[in-house]
Amino acid sequence: MTPAPLRVAVLGAGTVGREVARALVERAGELSAAAGVPLELVRIAVRDLARARDRGIPTALLTDAPAHLVAADDTHVIVELMGGDEPAHTLIAAALGAGKAVVTANKHVIAHHGPSLEAAARRTGAALRFEAAVGGGIPVLGPLAAELAANRVTAVCGIVNGTTNYILTAMADEGRDYDDVLAAAQAAGYAEADPSGDVEGHDAANKLVILARLAFGVWLDPSDIVLSDDAGPGHGRPGISGVTAADVAAAAAAGATIKLVAEARRGPDGRISARVVPVALPAETALARTAGVLNRIEVEAEPVGTVAFSGPGAGGAATSSAV
Ligand code: NAP
Ligand code: HSE
Repeated sequence: MTPAPLRVAVLGAGTVGREVARALVERAGELSAAAGVPLELVRIAVRDLARARDRGIPTALLTDAPAHLVAADDTHVIVELMGGDEPAHTLIAAALGAGKAVVTANKHVIAHHGPSLEAAARRTGAALRFEAAVGGGIPVLGPLAAELAANRVTAVCGIVNGTTNYILTAMADEGRDYDDVLAAAQAAGYAEADPSGDVEGHDAANKLVILARLAFGVWLDPSDIVLSDDAGPGHGRPGISGVTAADVAAAAAAGATIKLVAEARRGPDGRISARVVPVALPAETALARTAGVLNRIEVEAEPVGTVAFSGPGAGGAATSSAV
């Protein structure tokens, strides 16, 4: 006998949400939870119903009342893909409080409210999963939590923002203008609703908080992460906002490539230092060669040594696979 389905509500049908919804509808037979329990997409919440219909989402699946989906007796799993702080935070907290499993790609909410959400999940026994919040389609949190668990991590370091890497790559390879490339990254669905979060390093800092939680077992405060470096190619401005075409060209002439590098490192005293700053890396290194929307995360750990994860760091289709 087929077990009763897990009823899934998706909050948000934008770049990621509509790909998740599409997968749940078109590949329902392939996608199942543990022990072969089928997944059933019951509803999708959006703000603008007409826009969602224009994007091809069946009217019968749509609602503009996400809180009702969270409260409904017949939803078991809440997939939050709205983004931003509120109402996403309150909806996730309510779902966990009601004992419902939550899957989210929302790095802002996890980085800023992780400790209380984790406590709520523990209290009710609900699962809270956020693999898609870091590295788009790259499986990295799962391996950190499980397969690498016997190691003592000393550092996590890498490129964790697709938008800024796409911009820096296009500036370096094609000599394109910053604003023009940012517009292309937005059109491709890589950038956040407010792209200043990408460009100024906050999105990468949120991801670094999450990586540090899995790597070191501590929640860093996002506001403690260093976002600028007077001595680096960002000229003391946050993220890549201070990097100019002339900086990119000068780095190339010197055999280097500018990348926005996120790094959290455990010092000899056990304290974790964390920064997200642009760095001119030797062009032949794997991080420097990580191009376009790709991300790469390197984990330094004992006794394994260095392990690296790379792949598509943003975009609806890739991210939907991690969700
Ligand atoms: P998006 O394209 O802006 O889509 C957001 C969706 O949420 C839209 O359908 C929007 O509805 C809906 N929404 C927003 N606020 C709402 C509200 N108050 N009530 C009901 N619906 C609401 O965002 P996205 O790019 O898919 O990103 C979603 C999440 O995934 C974010 O947390 C983002 O950081 C994360 N993420 C994105 C990527 C990526 O490559 N895009 C990769 C990894 C993680 P309307 O369209 O009606 O406004
Ligand atoms: N805006 C994010 C990025 C989306 O460009 O990396 C993926 O988290």
